[in-house]
Amino acid sequence: MPTDVAVSFRSLAREDFPNIQRWLRTQHVGRWWRDPSDLDSIEAHYGPCIDRTDPTRVYIIGLDARDIGLIQSYRWVSSPAQAEALGIDVNDAGLDFFVGEADLVGRGLGSEILRAFIGQLLFADWTIGGVTVEPEVENTASLRAFEKAGFKPIARKRLADETSDRQVMRLARG
Ligand SMILES: CC(C)(COP(=O)(O)OP(=O)(O)OC[C@H]1O[C@@H](n2cnc3c(N)ncnc32)[C@H](O)[C@@H]1OP(=O)(O)O)[C@@H](O)C(=O)NCCC(=O)NCCS
Repeated sequence: MPTDVAVSFRSLAREDFPNIQRWLRTQHVGRWWRDPSDLDSIEAHYGPCIDRTDPTRVYIIGLDARDIGLIQSYRWVSSPAQAEALGIDVNDAGLDFFVGEADLVGRGLGSEILRAFIGQLLFADWTIGGVTVEPEVENTASLRAFEKAGFKPIARKRLADETSDRQVMRLARG
């Protein structure tokens, strides 16, 4: 794991959409993050988050001066049906993230990003007692990054409209 990384987070802006498009079109992100990558779809998906009409908070991950990926967080109370199906406490926060720059994947940054984001942003909010995530069981890099950041497996579940299981994992406030 790198010891000298300086990861940072800033709120997503529309100027970031070309980077998001490029990142969504990489093989390693596109395999797991299956959102459409045309700019109209990106605007439809992320525009309301920027305008704060959607409660999901979306950030660009920075590594020194370089924009390298995206991380988003939300409260499970915003997705009650999915939370119930997965057995997730609706008071928990959830998050999703990717490192879009292929040359930076697999160097230990994923778990470092999680630790920094959760410590600096999520657990700065004292109403958040835990963070629960639900990566696909085949997504080894994601599972491993969460595990290295301290997440513990809770349950393995399959959503009705999906063809593979999800590994529900939780990190409690320490
Ligand atoms: C998930 C993601 C952010 C992890 O970032 P990362 O910088 O690669 O993470 P780390 O280097 O901290 O940890 C990855 C771990 O998975 C392992 N790994 C990576 N790819 C792997 C693969 N294809 N098979 C098995 N293990 C793999 C690495 O060896 C590492 O484990 P180790 O430290 O024990 O060797 C990155 O892979 C990514 O952006 N993936 C695409 C989007 C995605 O799946 N997001 C998660 C959905 S919430």
